[in-house]
Formats: sequence, C-alpha cells, structure tokens
Amino acid sequence: MSPNGASDSKSNSERPVKIIIVGAGFAGLSCAIESRLKGHDVILLDKFPKLKVLGDIISFGPNAGRIFERWGLHDKMWPLCTHLKTFHLNTWKGDLITAQPLNEKEFGSYSYNGHRGELHQILFDHAVELGVDLRLSANVTEYWEDDHAAGVVSNGERLSADVVVGADGVRSKARAMVLGYFDQPEPSGYAIYRAWFTAKGSGIDEDPLSDYLVKDGDAFYGWIGKDVHMLSSSSKGGKDVSWVITHKDTADIEESWSFPGKMEDVLKIVEDWDPRCAAILSKAPSCVDWKLVYRDPLPTWISKKARIAVIGDAAHPFLPTSIQGASQALEDGVTIAVNLKLSGPEEAPLSIQAFEKIRYQRVRRAQRTGETNRDKWHQADDKKAVEDPKSVALNREEWLLGHDAEKHAWEAYPDTAKDIKEHGYHLPELPEGDVAAERVAKAREEYLAKAM
Ligand SMILES: Cc1cc2nc3c(=O)[nH]c(=O)nc-3n(C[C@H](O)[C@H](O)[C@H](O)COP(=O)(O)OP(=O)(O)OC[C@H]3O[C@@H](n4cnc5c(N)ncnc54)[C@H](O)[C@@H]3O)c2cc1C
Ligand SMILES: *[C@@H]1O[C@H](CO)[C@@H](O)[C@H](O)[C@H]1NC(C)=O
Repeated sequence: MSPNGASDSKSNSERPVKIIIVGAGFAGLSCAIESRLKGHDVILLDKFPKLKVLGDIISFGPNAGRIFERWGLHDKMWPLCTHLKTFHLNTWKGDLITAQPLNEKEFGSYSYNGHRGELHQILFDHAVELGVDLRLSANVTEYWEDDHAAGVVSNGERLSADVVVGADGVRSKARAMVLGYFDQPEPSGYAIYRAWFTAKGSGIDEDPLSDYLVKDGDAFYGWIGKDVHMLSSSSKGGKDVSWVITHKDTADIEESWSFPGKMEDVLKIVEDWDPRCAAILSKAPSCVDWKLVYRDPLPTWISKKARIAVIGDAAHPFLPTSIQGASQALEDGVTIAVNLKLSGPEEAPLSIQAFEKIRYQRVRRAQRTGETNRDKWHQADDKKAVEDPKSVALNREEWLLGHDAEKHAWEAYPDTAKDIKEHGYHLPELPEGDVAAERVAKAREEYLAKAM
C-alpha cells in the first residue's frame, strides 16, 4: 500500500516497467526494492563478485527510517543499531557544551546508525526475496539510449529496458557517460580517520577514560576544536564501538573506503586535547584514512532522452557532516520507483524528468547542511559554545528529517508531469542564493553548448 491509499498493484499500463539499475549500494538497492513493490521488472547489476561486509559507521535519519519501516525491516535492523539517549558534546579541552537529549523516534520514525556492511546485507537479502534479478560480477562499461529504450553493456552483453538508473557511487562511470560530464573533485583539505571495533577485548571497557561509552548501553560523545572534530559512539548496547576524527590532509591520499591510517598520526591530532579522546582512539586495533573531496552540484542528473538517471552518490555526494548522504540516496530510489508507477512504461522518460525536478532542490539543501554543520563546529568559539549550546547542537529539522519521500512523490508527480508536458523540460535550478551558483551556471552553459 502506498501512503495515500492507492493500491500498488494497479498500473496505468498492462505491462510492467522494465528497469536496469547499475550499483547495489544503498541507492541502487532502495530503487530495486521499491520498484519490486511497485510491480516493476528489475535487473540489478553490480561489479562486486560477492557481498562483503565493508565500511564502518553509517547513519540514516528518520526520513530514511520511515522507508525501512514501511519495508518491514525494523525488527532486523534495529538490534544492530545505536540506541541513543543523549549526545554529549564537549569542547576540545573537555568542557561539556551540552548533553543534548535524543528521542528514539523523531517525526514518527527511528534513526538507524549502524555498521554499513551489516545494514547493507539486510537490504541486499530483502531485494533478492522480492524477486530482483540480481547479477553480480557484472561490470557495466557502456550506457545507451534511443527513442524507445535504454540499456547497458555488462561483461560484453547488451541489455535493454525502459529506463536505466546509474547508482554506481562517487566515482560513477554513468555520470561521465550519460552526462558527458567529467568529474572534477576538489581536495577539501581534510580527511577523516575512521574505525569500528568490538568493545570486548579492546580495553575500552576497562579504562575509566573510555568505559562510559560501553558500560551502560550505547552512548554518543563528540569533541569540537579548531578545524577538527571527533565523534564516537557505541552500538548494539555497548557491544561495538566506532569513532571518526577529521584531520588536515596534506598528503594526497586516495579516495577510498579502505586506505589504512596510522594510529600514531591519529593520536598526534589529540595530543593537547581532553585525555578521553586519546583513550578512546587508542583502543581501535586499526583505522581507515578516508579522503574528503568536494564536488559541485551537477547541472543535470538525467540523459538527453531522459531514459537514464544517476542517483545517490553518483549524482550528489555528501559531506559526512550532513549525516544525510545515505538517506538522500534512499529517497532518490523510492522517488524513481513511485514516478515510474505513475508514468507507466509509455511515459517513462517523463518520470525521469519529474524525478530530477522533484528531488534537485531538496537534495541541494540537504547537501549544504554538510558545509554549515562543519563550519559551525570547526569555527566555534569554546566560551561562546558553552554559553550558547544551541549554536553548536545537532540540527534536527523537520523539513529534512520529517520528509516522507514516497508520499511526496505520489503527491508531487501529477502536477510536475503536467508542468513538464505543458512547458517542456528545463535544466533544474539551484535554490536561490546558492554558494555554488556561479560555478554551476558555468557548468550549465558548457553542458548546453555540448548539447547543441
Ligand atoms: C565499500 C564501501 C564502503 C563504504 N563505507 C561507508 C561507511 O563506512 N560509512 C558511510 O557513511 N558511507 C560508506 N560508504 C558510502 C555510502 O555507502 C554511500 O555514501 C551512500 O550509501 C550512497 O550510496 P550509493 O548507493 O549511492 O553508492 P555506493 O554505496 O558507493 O554504491 C555504488 C555501487 O556501485 C557499484 N559499481 C560501481 N561501478 C560499477 C560498474 N561499472 N558496474 C557495476 N557496478 C558498479 C559498486 O560496486 C557499488 O556497490 C561506502 C561505500 C562503499 C562502496
Ligand atoms: C570493468 O571494465 C573496465 C573497462 O573495461 C576495466 O578497466 C575494469 O578493470 C573492469 N573492472 C572489473 C572489476 O572487472
């Protein structure tokens, strides 16, 4: 059932929509699952040969939580997650700024913060149960479209469908091939050391400078200093621990989820800090050094004939300080599936154009919070932060976290589609006054010039 009561089995057309999705990350899986629930035929391709539990902490806000809950996955996911009561935010010297109470549910849904690989596995299994035609070791090397169909070439085999969704992550090939747009990541000057480990045997539960993280269920602590912040939390009732700490990145390291970091470099950052920081960091057996890069908003997420769209990180990578990258990837997938349900196969390109129109500004606003949150923490004045904790507290805003992407797509599609039919398709607009306006205007011009 859709949230507005329309039956999911009713279609505007006798035959199901055929969709090929490239990439079985959270964006691709979300699109595949919701597409099956809407009755579409789904082929999902990923180049990895088998699923591995990769990564560390990943966060889904209540706007993504309501999607998991609708899929019936709460009981599987929740035990693996962090069950938070309070966020203790401190200055780098260790003065408490705020003990911010966190509600288990916000705007009607839970937040799911857990191990990326473990949560990924649950979605992966769910997609297979729903009848997604999942093909691994499928390396997509080409995208194509004409007036009647779109498709890919995977391991030399040519596949075709009504639409193709490129959900192939930050280093997306779809982005380059579909949009003719070459990736120009800018170094941000920062990287993040990250770790995830089992509390037991790490010593974290035996050190009074770190045991509060695990001894009474889950806990969540943060420290903010000039240009650096550190966050640490436990999950599964104190069983596992994770931490992240930003650092100045002068070395030109690779953009990778598995590039190893050196513990001695990590500890150097917090030499003069609250000793609780080194106590927590030093308990990790190893860590990853993850480079942070910036990418400007793309002028468009869809192909010329509107049969191919990029979604998730391929369309709009997020800074981790937004805590929204994975949630927005989920919203994208759901929106595409609903739109295709409403368009049917005959008008599939209209659903892709409407997807961009429905999502573009919202995604950009969410993406910008990554910069504003980071600046708020990295430029905070210790004394002022303690006096006015609200100025550095975590934002819990309704427009972002209370959003229901599925309901919104059902409601927004008819008028959006009508508008495109009446006035034609136009490239999407950034929100008014956007900091990237000038650069994106230039990218638009180049894009349009190429299209001529
Ligand atoms: C290994 C890994 C570990 C990660 N760990 C974390 C983490 O710990 N914390 C965190 O917050 N975020 C992590 N992320 C990123 C996070 O998953 C994304 O930011 C977010 O969930 C959006 O996901 P996505 O589906 O758009 O992209 P991704 O999760 O990057 O998924 C893209 C998928 O596309 C596949 N793919 C790429 N090119 C091709 C091709 N040519 N043919 C076929 N398939 C292709 C990739 O194999 C991958 O599975 C990780 C991503 C990866 C890939
Ligand atoms: C996928 O194909 C590209 C282009 O032919 C190649 O460079 C790459 O190594 C292949 N990747 C895998 C995992 O097979």
